Amino acid sequence: MDKKITQFITFGFMLSLLIFLMAGCYNDSKEYLYPELPGACDTTNITYAGSVQPIIDSYCKSCHSGSSPSGNLVLETYSQVKAIADDGRLVNVINATNGYPLMPQGSSLPDCSIQIFEKWVASGAPNN
Ligand code: HEC
Repeated sequence: MDKKITQFITFGFMLSLLIFLMAGCYNDSKEYLYPELPGACDTTNITYAGSVQPIIDSYCKSCHSGSSPSGNLVLETYSQVKAIADDGRLVNVINATNGYPLMPQGSSLPDCSIQIFEKWVASGAPNN
């Protein structure tokens, strides 16, 4: 093959790879990428939609959704999560305090996620 064409194809391939990789990183949050990195926990501007719900989706929904949810508890909507925030169970289960079972069942949340839940509950568990 002509050398210029080969170079052109190689360049095109590298460029698409670069674009693909950059696009792949675009939506990743710091917490998701570096859950255990000390100091990487950003607890400023905590919101339900941006901070709390993604954690519920990743760590709780597998058991607490659908027609036969674990513990007969569904955590699919804001008001369902708000209910366990207000009655104290959310903070208790993620820390296994006051006799509550540890959630997620069998393994605890990353420290940063626990801090996010606690701060959100302490600020009144707003729907923001
Ligand atoms: C692997 C399945 C599983 C996952 C994941 C899970 N849970 Fe549970 N959860 C259960 C089961 C089973 C029960 C009921 C049995 C029990 O109380 O030990 C329960 C009960 C609960 C209760 C009620 C506790 C009580 O005594 O009133 C709350 C609140 C709760 N879960 C919150 C959560 C939250 C928040 C998450 C995510 C951080 C989560 N769960 C993740 C299985 C799970």
